[in-house]
Amino acid sequence: MSKSQFGMIGLGTMGRNLVLNIADHGFAVCGYDRDTAQQQRMISEGEGKAVSVATSLSELVNNLEKPARIMLLVPAGKIVDAVLADLVPLLQKDDIVIDGGNSHFTDTNRRYTELQNSGIHFMGMGVSGGEEGARLGPSMMPGSNLPSFNAVKNILESIAAKTDEGPCVAFVGNGAAGHYTKMVHNGIEYAMMQLISEVYGILKYNGISNDEVQKIFTEWNGGELQSFLMEITGDIFLKKDDRTNNLLVDMILDKAKQKGTGMWTSQSAMDLNVPIPTIDAAVSMRYLSAIKEGRVAAAKKYNSGNNNNIVDKTELISICKGALQFGWLLSYAQGLDLLQQASKTYNYGVDIAEVLRIWKGGCIIRSAMLNDLRKAYLRDVGLTNIIQSDLFVSRLSELRNAAVELCSIAMKASEPVAAFAASLNYFDANITAQLPANLIQAQRDLFGAHTYERIDATGSFHTDWK
Ligand code: 6PG
Repeated sequence: MSKSQFGMIGLGTMGRNLVLNIADHGFAVCGYDRDTAQQQRMISEGEGKAVSVATSLSELVNNLEKPARIMLLVPAGKIVDAVLADLVPLLQKDDIVIDGGNSHFTDTNRRYTELQNSGIHFMGMGVSGGEEGARLGPSMMPGSNLPSFNAVKNILESIAAKTDEGPCVAFVGNGAAGHYTKMVHNGIEYAMMQLISEVYGILKYNGISNDEVQKIFTEWNGGELQSFLMEITGDIFLKKDDRTNNLLVDMILDKAKQKGTGMWTSQSAMDLNVPIPTIDAAVSMRYLSAIKEGRVAAAKKYNSGNNNNIVDKTELISICKGALQFGWLLSYAQGLDLLQQASKTYNYGVDIAEVLRIWKGGCIIRSAMLNDLRKAYLRDVGLTNIIQSDLFVSRLSELRNAAVELCSIAMKASEPVAAFAASLNYFDANITAQLPANLIQAQRDLFGAHTYERIDATGSFHTDWK
């Protein structure tokens, strides 16, 4: 029997769809899952294609051409370690194992280091695009090292989403850079989704119907806000509930869950001293959404949501459109700043313009804005923040007005807009030459002799304040 060119461990939704995608591009694939029901699903879905299914890890490894190329798509955490513990003893020098799950970058770093001298390549790779992306073309963010990437480049390039600037995959950087980049992608994803939900909240509060919301989002998807998230959000407002006559979105409980990648982004940003307040707000708002019972009880006590300060519809829609562009641009700005700083700290060697290129297709945060962001980073490779780029000065200044209007309308109505407020304050702080932080330094020196710097002399100073 001829050998397969690629192996897949984990035949859940993502794994199965990637197997089918790889097979469609002319590569024979062998899949393995310890769950026999998943094995059976793969057999039936892969019928007529170059797909085989192994019933054990050793059978999978024996079915593969050498050097073996194997991807893991299993839940992040202990399961990855457990699979590696069983798999690695079956492998030989030059074999390559790709972890395509949403692993934490510190786990990837540990696994990469552990396998570094074994002759077996370990690659942490972010994969974005959900089920449809896996089947038709995801965006992929592989890290590790260039020789490992080159060993799988042909397969990855052929299965990736394609844009006018090529396949949505590239070697993003050393060691855990791939999973770090994917984590940042998800942090931006959380922020963009939160901003859309805040717009939805304010439109709904002002009496705009689901039908109109659907039309607004669909129209926005044809302009500056063109994106995967805008497209799917418009479509959500078309879906009827099977059980009632209502739209499905109205029947969904307002508790947003999470698997943790947004939280990891905030944690890592704190560790690296990089401000990403829009992403932080998005993570916190998911937690706030989860405390439903407390919110319902407090709403009665505070009589909230009863302000009748309804604003002009056309004006409100235009404000929301501008504010959403502002919030999205600053969500990208924060994520990219974090990625740039992490790359310096951990020696990833990430090329931000190249990351923006591979995010243009296949992934959840793909949008028309990425073209302009990429232009800014191509023009200035060391750019830390698009706020500093001349290409964005007039656009951000103009859009700021919409964000101010939106926050003011929403806050008067007690309609929470945490992500918009965070974006606005982030922007204003970034463009303020003189912040009141001198007072904080004075306080620190007074109570703890922590010293301060002066505006008229270099060095550290301490004063006996009393
Ligand atoms: C992607 C997504 C995906 C993520 C889901 C759910 O790029 O395809 O980021 O990897 O797991 O979006 O994430 P949460 O459960 O944390 O919302």
